[in-house]
Amino acid sequence: MLRTRLDLDRIHAARRVINPVFLNTPMYRCDALGSQLGCTVSVKLETANPVRSFKGRGTELVTSLLTEQGRTAVVCASAGNLGQALSWSGRRRGLDVTVVASRQAPVAKLNRIRALGAELELVDGDFEMARERAVTVARQRDIRLLEDSLDIETCEGAATIGLELAETPVDTVLIALGGGAMATGVGYVLKTLTPGVEVICVQPMGAPAMTRSFHERRVITTESADTIADGVAGRYPIPEVLDDLLAVADDAVLVHESSIVAGMQMLLEHTGLVVEPSAALGVAAVLEDRDRFAGRHVVSVICGSNVDLDAYHRWVGRSEPE
Ligand SMILES: Cc1ncc(COP(=O)(O)O)c(C=O)c1O
Repeated sequence: MLRTRLDLDRIHAARRVINPVFLNTPMYRCDALGSQLGCTVSVKLETANPVRSFKGRGTELVTSLLTEQGRTAVVCASAGNLGQALSWSGRRRGLDVTVVASRQAPVAKLNRIRALGAELELVDGDFEMARERAVTVARQRDIRLLEDSLDIETCEGAATIGLELAETPVDTVLIALGGGAMATGVGYVLKTLTPGVEVICVQPMGAPAMTRSFHERRVITTESADTIADGVAGRYPIPEVLDDLLAVADDAVLVHESSIVAGMQMLLEHTGLVVEPSAALGVAAVLEDRDRFAGRHVVSVICGSNVDLDAYHRWVGRSEPE
């Protein structure tokens, strides 16, 4: 029996609340990518939805509960994708959504949040500064603060990916690790339904706090985060989430920025997928340790595709038309 904050019945119930546009996402084998990486590779595509990331699964759940409770407003801190998803789910339910984000967040993410009608407050500094400010906004306005990965609905929403993954026999699932909602949610479902499947979390070396915490079995914070994978660039792991992660993950690994870029290039070249850096972490992990994955069937969750075009072109290399 796994001791985590998650519960399988609640995760099944979540599926009935989440807009079907986020559910039953495509999963398929990519032989061209697999032959480059020396293993069987499948992708689970969490980008073919209106917010182009998996975060809509959690925000659907959160906003439907808020509506049931008669709440009318919510604020969250976001690196961009949670804010966009909350704006989308909140707009459909007539909620006032405020998103606090770093001024350094990708412009495409910030623009989408505004376009969805949310109030966007920008702060100097990184995601952790946005988290601090969101707490103040919630207190001042007396509105609900949504805390990604700490609020169980964000984990339960992401966990529904696990229900879908569990339908296909595979050896290893690679999950980008930020605050941990996705890794703890998906990991819990896989370890409950298919305990033989290996759950490996991946973070950039430039933002290693949660991975270090996992290995040391206690919260380790970092002074700074420096990575192109903006979706996973936290510095202050949440103790409750770390406890859950320790119960469900087999390993957490760190990858170099150059491997993330190579992963994005390979996903474009061999699968035709435009992904944001966080979504290339899984491929980066295989690139850095081919022997570990050789001959295995590996699934990488392609968790987001919100990129600034200029940055994306810089990373994947723009070829000029002749
Ligand atoms: C594209 C993408 N990948 C991975 C993550 C990390 O997910 P989590 O915070 O649930 O660990 C995020 C978080 O926003 C994200 O946007």
